[in-house]
Amino acid sequence: MLDIIINSLWLILPAYCANLFPVIMNGKHPIDFKKNFVDGYRLLGDGKTIEGFFSGIIFGTLVGILQIYLQPFMGQFYVFQFQHNLLTIILLSTGAIVGDLIGSFVKRRFGLERGAPTPILDQLDFLVFSLVVLSVIISIEFSWVIFLLFITPLIHYSSNIFAFTLKLKDKPW
Ligand code: CTP
Ligand code: MG
Repeated sequence: MLDIIINSLWLILPAYCANLFPVIMNGKHPIDFKKNFVDGYRLLGDGKTIEGFFSGIIFGTLVGILQIYLQPFMGQFYVFQFQHNLLTIILLSTGAIVGDLIGSFVKRRFGLERGAPTPILDQLDFLVFSLVVLSVIISIEFSWVIFLLFITPLIHYSSNIFAFTLKLKDKPW
């Protein structure tokens, strides 16, 4: 079990960091340029900004680079199996940010306002999409995916409450 926890979290860390950073950035320029879709609702909404998009990808990638530097040291511990490279961290960071945009696109199609709570979609959009993108180049252990699907909503929920407490977010979800 310990190997599943360690390896899956090591794998997903760039995606988590990419997803978290835009909240801190507090961007002002919507990436949909305030345009509406054919249904009359916003394409993505004010919660998805250009600043958030790029800062998320860059931050996730930087954390991944740090992981790559740490790997030779971490590799001494036998539980350590998964190794990042430049491609895995870029795919995970970009996948997380794009997955989050897709989630917002879906929410807007249901007429949901920016910030409206959408359980499962809010917590898993970035995770599922980043794993899908990564699986194009590597095969990911099934047990790691199951663990991440289970743990991510819990981590997401607690970190959002934390961000809300720090007044980084106006809603605790
Ligand atoms: N954010 C951003 N740019 C992104 C993603 C997120 O600026 N590409 C920032 C926004 O300030 C956003 C916050 O991070 O409000 C939290 O992100 P999220 O919960 O995904 O957005 P919501 O405001 O809840 O909007 P939505 O309903 O579209 O999910
Ligand atoms: Mg949200």
